[in-house]
Amino acid sequence: MNRLIFQSNEELNKAGAGLIISLLHTKPNAVLGLATGRTPTGIYAELVKAYRRDAVRFDHCRTFNLDEYIGLPREHSESFFTYMEKHLFSQVNLSSSQTHLPDGSAADPHAEAARYDALLNSVGQIDLQILGIGHNGHIGFNEPSGALTSATHVVELDERTRQANARSFSSIDDVPTQAITMGIGSIMKAKTVLLVVSGEDKAEIVHRSLTGPITTQCPASLLQTHPSLIVMMDTAAAKLFR
Ligand code: GLP
Repeated sequence: MNRLIFQSNEELNKAGAGLIISLLHTKPNAVLGLATGRTPTGIYAELVKAYRRDAVRFDHCRTFNLDEYIGLPREHSESFFTYMEKHLFSQVNLSSSQTHLPDGSAADPHAEAARYDALLNSVGQIDLQILGIGHNGHIGFNEPSGALTSATHVVELDERTRQANARSFSSIDDVPTQAITMGIGSIMKAKTVLLVVSGEDKAEIVHRSLTGPITTQCPASLLQTHPSLIVMMDTAAAKLFR
């Protein structure tokens, strides 16, 4: 495990974007696993800046997002599709044929999860999987549980997760109760995993996930077994690693 601590969020974002840019320079057709939430927005902003100064291009890469809410129209303001269009896809040369998210508006979410999983398997391996971490140790929408699911699947969202994500909805009642998420197995198959954590509110969970027992009750703890894990934190998130 490669643990990197940055004095500021800005430095963290530049470093995270730098890792992606160097991968695309060495492997233009790389497969990127993408996350949503507040944490990666700064990294996407740095990628857009690099693209605008011609320091990176996305012509040949493909992207797969970790998850999507079930029950929101794709263009809903809070869908992860809309998030990705806003923060990255519409600002760089990524065409819709190169980017993939589960379809949360599919009539049969379980069939959609199976379709997405088959698509993931057809590309072989994700070269670099970006992850954030939920306050309860979830990655993607893999919530703490007695057992974790390996493949892409439909998941019931934990109340703490709904509350944490409610900030961008008009009320908690509008927050979906289900999502489609890549499973732990899909995530762990990635060649390299980049876990990005910022803010003091994540200090306890990232410390527990990386140094505590490996347990399905803290899905991020399984990352301890990944052979190529890079963890990027700002000093606030890393305060328990002193
Ligand atoms: C959501 C996403 C996760 C993300 C988590 C933390 O639940 N499904 O992929 O890592 O929130 O998001 P944030 O970075 O906003 O704390």
